[in-house]
Amino acid sequence: MGGRTLSASVWITVTLLAVNVYLQGVEGSTMTVKNQCSYTVWAAGSPGGGKQLGQGETWTFDVPAGTTGARIWGRTGCSFDAAGQGSCTTGDCGGLLNCQGYGSVPATLFEIALNQYQNQDFYDISLVDGFNLPLSVTPSNTACKVIGCTSDINAVCPAELKVTDGCKSACAEFNTPQYCCTGDYLNNCNPTNYSEFFKKQCPQAYSYAKDDATSTFTCPSGANYNVVFCG
Ligand SMILES: *[C@@H]1O[C@H](CO)[C@@H](O)[C@H](O)[C@H]1NC(C)=O
Repeated sequence: MGGRTLSASVWITVTLLAVNVYLQGVEGSTMTVKNQCSYTVWAAGSPGGGKQLGQGETWTFDVPAGTTGARIWGRTGCSFDAAGQGSCTTGDCGGLLNCQGYGSVPATLFEIALNQYQNQDFYDISLVDGFNLPLSVTPSNTACKVIGCTSDINAVCPAELKVTDGCKSACAEFNTPQYCCTGDYLNNCNPTNYSEFFKKQCPQAYSYAKDDATSTFTCPSGANYNVVFCG
């Protein structure tokens, strides 16, 4: 009897320790988004929702552990009613201030997959959907790389990709297999003159869908991330 009680309590102790170690290994991340642009930006997070940010304002929210496919971007030229319904010139998210999914092109994206592989977060800045405003990302873990796309691509955007407040990607504008790395180009997709234009402006950012080698960064899970618009 006494032996069984002892082994049961040992079991419980071991199990609690294991759960504790497990939970420490899969932490979520706090995202802090700051608008350093001279104009108002309506930040969007998927997951996270959305918030209007005047110049210098910040927004903080948590992304749960294990979330992959998370993204944060800025929306410009928005107008919302009291219920939070309306539209934005760039980055619109289904007409909702409190964004509930991905947004419209063009938008500069911060993308992150928490705890994606071997206890590492995978993060990047993507111009695959085009560009609308400069953005930089600083992980709280100083061992991880600060990345940015700080060039004003709107000012140098090729005429055929130019839209109000933004610069579309060739994939978004022309929607061909070569530019979108689909169909015959799914597993064999090379840079094009358009992706090279974006890469030259922002060497750390994805310039087309298969631009992984120079555009993906990793950070030990548990870090938090500061995202700055126009920073
Ligand atoms: C890319 O090439 C196409 C077709 O050759 C050309 O029309 C276009 O102007 C070029 N764009 C850039 C940004 O060089």
